[in-house]
Amino acid sequence: MKILKMLHVLIGCLVLGVTARGQKNPGFISIDCGAPTDYHDDQLDIYYKADAAFVDSGTSMQVSTQVIQQQIKNLRMFPDGTRNCYTLTLDEGKGNTYLVRATFWYGDYDGKNQTPSFDLHIDVNYWVTMNSSSWIYEEIIYTPPRDYIQVCLVNTGSGVPFISALELRLLDNSIYQINSGALVTNWRYNLGSINSYRHPQDVYDRIWNNITFSGGLSSVSNTTAVVTSTSNDAYKVPPEVLMTATQVQNVTDPLSLLWSSNNSTAIWSIYFHFAELQLQQNHVREFTVNVLDDFVGTILLENLKPVTLASSPVAGLSLNLTIKATARSTLPPLLNAVEIFNVAQLPNPPTFLDDFNAMYDVKKTYGVIMASWQGDPCVPTRYSWSRLHCNNDSSPRIVSVNLSSSGLEGLIATSISNLTAVVSLDLSNNSLTGSVPDFLAQMPSLKVLNLSGNNLSGSIPLTLLKKKADGSLLLSLDGNPSLCQSDNCQTSNVKLKTKGIFSAPIIAAMAAVPVLILLGALALLWKIRRRQIQNVTTISTTSNSIGGSARILRLSKNRPFTSTEVTRITDNFRTIIGEGAFGKVYFGRLDDGTEVAVQLLMVIHHRNLVSLIGYCKEFENMTLIYEFMFNGNVQKNLSGLEYLHDGCKPPIVHRDLKTPNILLNENMQAKIADFGLSKAFATEHDTHISTCPAGTPGYLDPDFGIVLFELITGHPAIIRSPKGSNMHILHWVTPLIERGDIQSIVDPRLNGQFSINSAWRAVEIAMSCVPMMAVQRPDMNRVLSELKECLTAEISSERSQRMGNSKRRSESFRMTSIDVDIAPSAR
Ligand SMILES: *[C@@H]1O[C@H](CO)[C@@H](O)[C@H](O)[C@H]1NC(C)=O
Ligand SMILES: *[C@@H]1O[C@H](CO)[C@@H](O)[C@H](O)[C@H]1NC(C)=O
Ligand SMILES: *[C@@H]1O[C@H](CO)[C@@H](O)[C@H](O)[C@H]1NC(C)=O
Ligand SMILES: *[C@@H]1O[C@H](CO)[C@@H](O)[C@H](O)[C@H]1NC(C)=O
Ligand SMILES: *[C@@H]1O[C@H](CO)[C@@H](O)[C@H](O)[C@H]1NC(C)=O
Ligand SMILES: *[C@@H]1O[C@H](CO)[C@@H](O)[C@H](O)[C@H]1NC(C)=O
Ligand SMILES: *[C@@H]1O[C@H](CO)[C@@H](O)[C@H](O)[C@H]1NC(C)=O
Ligand SMILES: *[C@@H]1O[C@H](CO)[C@@H](O)[C@H](O)[C@H]1NC(C)=O
Ligand SMILES: *[C@@H]1O[C@H](CO)[C@@H](O)[C@H](O)[C@H]1NC(C)=O
Ligand SMILES: *[C@@H]1O[C@H](CO)[C@@H](O)[C@H](O)[C@H]1NC(C)=O
Ligand SMILES: *[C@@H]1O[C@H](CO)[C@@H](O)[C@H](O)[C@H]1NC(C)=O
Ligand SMILES: *[C@@H]1O[C@H](CO)[C@@H](O)[C@H](O)[C@H]1NC(C)=O
Repeated sequence: MKILKMLHVLIGCLVLGVTARGQKNPGFISIDCGAPTDYHDDQLDIYYKADAAFVDSGTSMQVSTQVIQQQIKNLRMFPDGTRNCYTLTLDEGKGNTYLVRATFWYGDYDGKNQTPSFDLHIDVNYWVTMNSSSWIYEEIIYTPPRDYIQVCLVNTGSGVPFISALELRLLDNSIYQINSGALVTNWRYNLGSINSYRHPQDVYDRIWNNITFSGGLSSVSNTTAVVTSTSNDAYKVPPEVLMTATQVQNVTDPLSLLWSSNNSTAIWSIYFHFAELQLQQNHVREFTVNVLDDFVGTILLENLKPVTLASSPVAGLSLNLTIKATARSTLPPLLNAVEIFNVAQLPNPPTFLDDFNAMYDVKKTYGVIMASWQGDPCVPTRYSWSRLHCNNDSSPRIVSVNLSSSGLEGLIATSISNLTAVVSLDLSNNSLTGSVPDFLAQMPSLKVLNLSGNNLSGSIPLTLLKKKADGSLLLSLDGNPSLCQSDNCQTSNVKLKTKGIFSAPIIAAMAAVPVLILLGALALLWKIRRRQIQNVTTISTTSNSIGGSARILRLSKNRPFTSTEVTRITDNFRTIIGEGAFGKVYFGRLDDGTEVAVQLLMVIHHRNLVSLIGYCKEFENMTLIYEFMFNGNVQKNLSGLEYLHDGCKPPIVHRDLKTPNILLNENMQAKIADFGLSKAFATEHDTHISTCPAGTPGYLDPDFGIVLFELITGHPAIIRSPKGSNMHILHWVTPLIERGDIQSIVDPRLNGQFSINSAWRAVEIAMSCVPMMAVQRPDMNRVLSELKECLTAEISSERSQRMGNSKRRSESFRMTSIDVDIAPSAR
């Protein structure tokens, strides 16, 4: 469809201006592709650069024939990769209009005498298909969306793409109207002339080619005319071009130019340039301009004053330009110069800029030479970079990067931190060195991070470990010998001691809860548990390492800990001992030997930091150090089942008495704790109107009977059935009580070794505590005394059953002081 697309520009046709050396062509980027050195083209007065700084692929070649113009002597061909690109960085930045020109001359550089055909892209959009053995150039007028323009050659399977020269010219933004698209130059005529012009006559270095017509058309020129009034005219058509024109001889005849196109979908945009050259008194030159059947405008020419008329975009197979004198015109129509463009659509948006820049930095940092890593990382989808995936956002984002086994060396590039949509980052099996950067933990979308098989060193950022621990990041760091993963950077390794488990059941409870009832309940618990442990010793030892939990310890000597200390204290977050409201809780040991629980917090909501042993605040992360409760929580010891601590987000009120919150230290001393204290504090004044007053499903406060039932049965408050349906412990136990089946009620792990009387008594006490209405429940003192009686009965029953072992027994029931602590949440 190209109109007179082949251009044989003969240097002899160019009227060469006087070279004014010195200025290095502001607004120009001029690249002689494949040229060995930079040079100044004296005839054009343009400085050309070799292309090495603009492209990182391809091979330099020289045409086999003699050439008369320097720029086409060398070329760069791209045998590798599907898409290869030049990147032009724009000094003036995005949003300006540029003319971009790519020049090609095959010149049988490869001796195959076979002209290749390939596509040209401007940034992420198709520009034109090349298929010419002649000297040809392609031009586009384009407003880039970014501070760079990439011109890409795309191999379409019809030969090796090549390019001879690439030129960029900054235009005045007010002249060519391109809206959202671009203008692809079809032709630019200097009418009525035998001379072609470009720079330096044309300040924008547009190429105006000579053309003359025969037939009814004649050439007009006034070589002595000086078109002076161009200074206000941003089109700046060179006076040399305007000094000639084509006109019809008879004023009544129209000046008609016709081109045909094979492309019915082509959209045309025509720019007409006029100037009156013949000063004639009492004459008028006025005419109308039509493109196809569309009226473009009426022009009344003033002597030597240039006028430009632009058509609206128009579609059509043939292009019929008609210039016709008006009735009052005494002179025939004329035309000095014309530009014929195709309007190109630019449908594809480029990759999100931060992602684009980050990937180019990665490419630069590691010198990753992958053939596909050219042009835009994501767009067009067909040519997107290997080793990464993008989404379909309006400005596509990179969602995964896999540079596994890519020979990467050096530090992990900080620019990776800008890949904020990346979900999966695989840098495994390279030679990366240095530390694991903290920013990896700040990447908001990152879910998979594989750094294994590198030479990373130092310690792992806390924040990253936390994300790994809470399951929000799949982190792989294996095979980094110098990386301080756990033991190797730690001299004093924490070894959990196993002595003294369950040796002295001292039961305590805290503040606002009915202390005494709990005391009794836990005494019973101990009684039952002790038996269990005797039989199932593995449970107790297992719970040493995994069942620990923590409570807040009140110390006045709060002090900050560094993250390094916290890492050391927790032996690199080796042992998870519980799950708090704000994250995982780890076992740790202070330098003085104090065992502590360490909870990593993302956000600190509450003001009770005074209750802590200390805290660590570094970067965005806060760590709280608590006293360690060696034996974990009652629930863990009780049933070993995970308890679904869900729903009921509002307040974990301090009335939230439940087995997971009753913690046991190594002396089986019980304390109530709750890591959701902040929330409790926030709702301190409205515990009665909270949407979930019981705090946790299953514990219908103040039904302490539920806790008792858990202790007796070894089941959690909500019993999960294999079929997936959940059953409240009361619904489970009630039919058993009605059947009198005490053996099925009591925790089977006791192997029936309990006094049936005491067991029934405990069940009765528990039952008496469960009614919904407070008045139907016994008062706490009564419950306590009944539990004590129950306990005494059980003790004597056991005494009578068992001989010896007196030491153990005496320890078991040494009830010492009641440690009435004040829960922080109650203050
Ligand atoms: C249109 O196509 C015909 C045949 O396919 C060809 O001969 C002609 O040169 C083409 N015209 C243009 C302007 O490309
Ligand atoms: C290139 O042009 C030649 C001759 O005009 C034609 O035979 C060939 O099919 C074209 N190649 C492509 C890929 O369009
Ligand atoms: C331009 O002028 C030269 C010499 O005057 C001529 O050989 C050439 O054919 C002309 N070009 C066109 C397109 O008319
Ligand atoms: C101009 O055209 C008109 C009508 O077409 C004709 O009568 C006249 O003779 C022509 N003049 C010249 C100078 O050719
Ligand atoms: C026809 O023109 C349209 C619009 O410029 C362009 O998208 C399309 O590729 C052209 N088709 C051919 C065969 O050149
Ligand atoms: C050319 O222009 C000059 C004024 O610049 C004018 O004096 C002269 O008459 C013009 N020549 C012709 C042939 O029109
Ligand atoms: C070109 O357009 C003019 C006016 O619009 C018309 O008179 C003329 O016949 C057209 N020519 C062709 C070849 O379509
Ligand atoms: C993006 O859209 C294209 C076509 O609309 C589809 O083929 C492709 O699978 C989409 N990609 C993603 C990642 O959704
Ligand atoms: C990365 O690519 C390798 C193969 O090149 C593959 O084995 C590995 O699973 C990929 N990683 C991810 C996270 O998909
Ligand atoms: C690691 O990379 C090397 C080459 O760099 C490759 O030979 C080896 O198979 C890769 N190993 C894995 C596990 O991907
Ligand atoms: C991340 O992107 C911002 C904004 O584009 C930029 O200023 C910053 O330099 C980038 N950071 C890195 C490390 O590349
Ligand atoms: C991390 O990469 C290594 C080597 O490529 C691979 O063996 C390992 O399975 C990967 N780990 C994960 C979690 O994908």
